Amino acid sequence: MQKTRAAITAINGYVPEYRLTNKELEGMVDTNDEWILSRTGISERRILRDRTKASSDLGAEAVKGLLKKKNLNPLEIDLLICATATPDMLFPATANIICDKIGAKNAFSYDISAACSGFLFSLSTGAKFIESGRYKKVVIVGADKMSSIMDYSDRSICILFGDGAGAVLLEPNEDGFGMMDEILRTDGNGCNYLHQKGGGSLNPATHETVDKKWHYIYQEGQTVFKFAVKGMADVSAEIMEKNNLTADDIAYLVPHQANKRIIDATAKRMGVSMDKVMLNIQKFGNTTNGTIPLCLWEWENKLKKGDNLIISAFGGGFTWGAIWLKWAYGA
Ligand SMILES: CC(C)(COP(=O)(O)OP(=O)(O)OC[C@H]1O[C@@H](n2cnc3c(N)ncnc32)[C@H](O)[C@@H]1OP(=O)(O)O)[C@@H](O)C(=O)NCCC(=O)NCCS
Repeated sequence: MQKTRAAITAINGYVPEYRLTNKELEGMVDTNDEWILSRTGISERRILRDRTKASSDLGAEAVKGLLKKKNLNPLEIDLLICATATPDMLFPATANIICDKIGAKNAFSYDISAACSGFLFSLSTGAKFIESGRYKKVVIVGADKMSSIMDYSDRSICILFGDGAGAVLLEPNEDGFGMMDEILRTDGNGCNYLHQKGGGSLNPATHETVDKKWHYIYQEGQTVFKFAVKGMADVSAEIMEKNNLTADDIAYLVPHQANKRIIDATAKRMGVSMDKVMLNIQKFGNTTNGTIPLCLWEWENKLKKGDNLIISAFGGGFTWGAIWLKWAYGA
């Protein structure tokens, strides 16, 4: 028997119905379909238009579908971690609210805040609970209602993001499948270039913070782009090198979807051809913590037991990293 690893044993995604197309954005800000598509790879994104609904509703829908697919009773969940940059409230944790919505009454739960790397960091965290042998069923949710912090009069940012959620179930595996290795990184200096300034303890909400638009995302696009290209490509190549994996060994790269050009550069650095790269940026934009599970969800039927996946992300913080995962089910 091999050591206990944490394997993904089920996956589900959820996106709201409304499609915000590049064409519609042309009527909102000074932009055009050709610029957005060529500079980012995005054609449309989904938006949760119901103002009474929040990230927990997106997350709860993703988990409900996951439980149904797996025929799992919510009472069996030991732990639920929600990765989100747009929590319903600063506290309590959105994970707690999701547990309430799905009836996971035996689970403990909390959020992880690591911007666009949150799902990756949460996968790593959840895996440790499984590897310890103490917990058997851990749900990791990535959920973001990015439209709630978007300035739809700023063309440099509002074209990039969309709303969505995805969830995975982690269970113990003793047959050599699951989470194999990881490289995770943080650089707090990145805070200067990508942040939401208002609403926290430094700048609590005032008329001034609202007037200054501090409750929206602020991003210095070009600077973040340079860090993201280097960060994501570096760790993706490094994790392959560290584990003696060649491009032929990799079934799929599962990259965070911030900009198609960042993904292209990462794949190139790894020597992996684009037919092995999961992409959903064209139809969902950057769903922050939703991008990776939404990709896995869409590719689930193509995945085979034993497939080597490199999952990599870069986000605000700065935070970035890569996980090598051996897929645990499928043909
Ligand atoms: C935001 C981003 C798409 C901008 O692309 P870019 O190629 O860097 O574009 P620039 O910011 O240099 O702007 C180039 C020009 O396009 C203009 N522009 C910006 N947004 C535009 C839009 N939506 N439509 C048309 N023109 C636009 C700029 O005003 C600028 O015009 P100028 O040359 O007259 O000054 C890109 O920088 C990016 O993806 N950054 C990283 C995002 C990211 O990874 N985030 C990670 C966290 S998830």
